[in-house]
Amino acid sequence: MTNPLLSVRDLRVSFASETGTVDAVRGISFDLEAGRTLGIVGESGSGKSVTSLAIMGLLDENVRISGSIIFDGQELLGKSDKQLSAIRGNGLVMIFQDPLSSLTPVFSIGAQLIEALTVHRALSKREAWARAVQLLETVGIPDPEQRMKSFPHEFSGGMRQRVVIAIAMANKPKLIIADEPTTALDVTIQAQILDLISKAQAETGAAVIMITHDMGVVAKTADDVLVMYAGKPVEKAPVHELFHRTRMPYSIGLLGAIPRVDKAEKQPLVPIKGNPPLLINLPNACPFASRCPIAIEACHTSEPDLVDVGNGSVGEHQAACIRSHEITDGGLIDGRPVFPLPPIPESALAAIPREDRPTTLEVRNLLRRSLS
Ligand SMILES: Nc1ncnc2c1ncn2[C@@H]1O[C@H](COP(=O)(O)OP(=O)(O)OP(=O)(O)O)[C@@H](O)[C@H]1O
Ligand code: SF4
Ligand SMILES: [Mg+2]
Repeated sequence: MTNPLLSVRDLRVSFASETGTVDAVRGISFDLEAGRTLGIVGESGSGKSVTSLAIMGLLDENVRISGSIIFDGQELLGKSDKQLSAIRGNGLVMIFQDPLSSLTPVFSIGAQLIEALTVHRALSKREAWARAVQLLETVGIPDPEQRMKSFPHEFSGGMRQRVVIAIAMANKPKLIIADEPTTALDVTIQAQILDLISKAQAETGAAVIMITHDMGVVAKTADDVLVMYAGKPVEKAPVHELFHRTRMPYSIGLLGAIPRVDKAEKQPLVPIKGNPPLLINLPNACPFASRCPIAIEACHTSEPDLVDVGNGSVGEHQAACIRSHEITDGGLIDGRPVFPLPPIPESALAAIPREDRPTTLEVRNLLRRSLS
């Protein structure tokens, strides 16, 4: 990678809490080039949002933060709020799970778009209005001229997220950080919003960080993937490599916990049992050890580093697991799945032909009328 747009090195973030210091991010490093998408995936509490807020410079002042975040040639850590705000205006945008948190309820959609368009650029009122309408059209808002006058509460969740993306595009982004942008939306809208983020990326040439807990979203959007666990990256690879040559049990678990159309119809999903550890006074051990089906004694005595595991170039595929070299394609160890498949429960009804089974729910002549 020659000249990355974003270069994060050994980023660490800790919060003081009543019960002790919470080490939310414990050393994360990656490079991201313009036009590429990095998927950051991991369970709740793994440090995904704290990482993105650190990059945006949106963490409270009372956090302890160290390492380096170089965006577009400038070190962001140590900059004042004013300097960071200027840098954000120059191409760093964030799309949150809840679009209402990015929109101001008392201003119309049009006013907010025009503000985004004119805050850092000299545009006449007429030019800004025309560009705002065009952006609403680009993100698929019907009757954009009319909707310029609407307020956020007059839009559905999906439409609000479209407006947020229009505002992001207005800022001529170099980097778009999308933190669970579709989690609050229903499935059909989710796909549309992901497509729209790709469209915004294609039109602006921005790099994207797609934060999600959903491997399906990663598969659809990312070029490279970083799997986070307990505040640290535990596997890092190009997306195809990660899905086909997974080398870290936690990533194998995440992949096993999602439905796959390419797997046998009756194969059950394998949940990862247990919970991630508390991020206070973590012992010197693999943080996944208590949940890992292939843990050995050595896993409990030191925390594995993220090291090269693939056949590609240095740093291309890395994993933090002392047994990575024993894991083979398809998530196998000694020819058996790292996460053994649970038995398929035999339904008592399976032996009874469908037509002989009792009716559970019967619906006749159901009608639904819309009031508008
Ligand atoms: N302001 C704060 N003070 C103390 N601890 C915090 C604070 N913000 C986050 N944390 C802790 O940092 C850890 C990482 O949180 P983060 O929000 O980054 O998780 P996440 O991966 O984004 O999870 P989710 O998928 O639920 O959004 C969690 O243990 C969280 O409780
Ligand atoms: S280091 Fe040990 S406990 Fe951790 S993921 Fe690897 S095998 Fe499992
Ligand atoms: Mg989060």
